[in-house]
Amino acid sequence: MSLSRVTVTAVRNLQAVTLSPSPRINILYGANGSGKTSLLEAIYLLGLARSFRSQRLQPVIQYEQAACTVFAQVAHADGGLCNLGVSRDRQGDFSIRIDGQNARSAAQLAEVLPLQLINPDSFRLLEGAPKIRRQFLDWGVFHVEPRFLGAWQRLQKALRQRNSWLRHGTLDGPSQAAWDRELSLASDEIDGYRRAYIQALKPVFEKVLRELVELDGLTLSYYRGWDKDRELSAVLAGSLLRDQQLGHTQAGPQRADLRLRAGAHNAADILSRGQQKLVVCALRIAQGHLMGQAKRGQCIYLVDDLPSELDEQHRRALCRLLDELDCQVFITCVEHELLCNGWRADTPVALFHVEQGRITPWE
Ligand SMILES: Nc1ncnc2c1ncn2[C@@H]1O[C@H](COP(=O)(O)OP(=O)(O)OP(=O)(O)O)[C@@H](O)[C@H]1O
Ligand SMILES: [Mg+2]
Repeated sequence: MSLSRVTVTAVRNLQAVTLSPSPRINILYGANGSGKTSLLEAIYLLGLARSFRSQRLQPVIQYEQAACTVFAQVAHADGGLCNLGVSRDRQGDFSIRIDGQNARSAAQLAEVLPLQLINPDSFRLLEGAPKIRRQFLDWGVFHVEPRFLGAWQRLQKALRQRNSWLRHGTLDGPSQAAWDRELSLASDEIDGYRRAYIQALKPVFEKVLRELVELDGLTLSYYRGWDKDRELSAVLAGSLLRDQQLGHTQAGPQRADLRLRAGAHNAADILSRGQQKLVVCALRIAQGHLMGQAKRGQCIYLVDDLPSELDEQHRRALCRLLDELDCQVFITCVEHELLCNGWRADTPVALFHVEQGRITPWE
């Protein structure tokens, strides 16, 4: 899928604009502070109903404006079109419209507009909290396994129930035992989907990584959130006292993690910033390939400041891999000369100049 039209109003410093992006490579270039990241932020808002720059959406709304809005027409591979719109006002009201209907949740947006973001903060996928890696993993599982969302919702409900019971002890024993069974079932189901996904992701990730950078001995592994040799029910029974003291459940899929090791070390501890960026790119590109293989449409890549931290050789390798994905890509950079070459001859590349909030296509 790709965005065939994007209309942005009152996002950061951007002047109201309607763009017709290329279905493939879109390069946004311009000086510092001109509004390049703001355009990526607008598209991200449309796909995830949040920003990647600030916790709150209030700072995204242009000064002196009452609300920001982003509309887009999404073109699916089968020729179908879908209209998406999000709007956020200063009172905190957020509305999501999909084909003229109000949407209930951001998960619906994520399904219609799957996005992958690569930006200068991407190294956090390696060195940040496990939650960031779980989000990465679950993004992939969600987009290839339709049963994942239901299992995840059941897990959340059973976990909330158990944590409340741990803190207040309000349920009788048999009722809580029934919830624990539900928790174990949902956990095993989620673990199965995640495991299958990692198994499929690993070889693709390794292949992409080899094409991007030479890093011998880099391994990706999955920790499911509890002892790999024991049933979750047994682990929960064994840690009941501690769980009661802490007031929450320590073991389970809510504690899952991905581990990236370089030889005997944690990859985040020894890789350079540029190498970390390349590893993250390989992970995210591998996810795009898997999504394409699952025939659930393509995702759209937002790559903020692609050239930063990369030398020419690695920059070119990254462009080649993005090109081979056959996805729509929005890339920002200060100097477009760095990115104008290196695409396949038949790849449509559109250039947009961003200048003090004004975006103009390069003719
Ligand atoms: N709510 C807002 N209303 C108006 N302008 C804003 C708002 N929030 C931020 N800005 C301004 O918007 C401008 C655009 O910032 P943006 O991060 O998009 O630039 P950029 O082109 O990505 O720059 P760089 O190359 O430095 O990354 C900045 O000058 C910033 O001060
Ligand atoms: Mg920027």
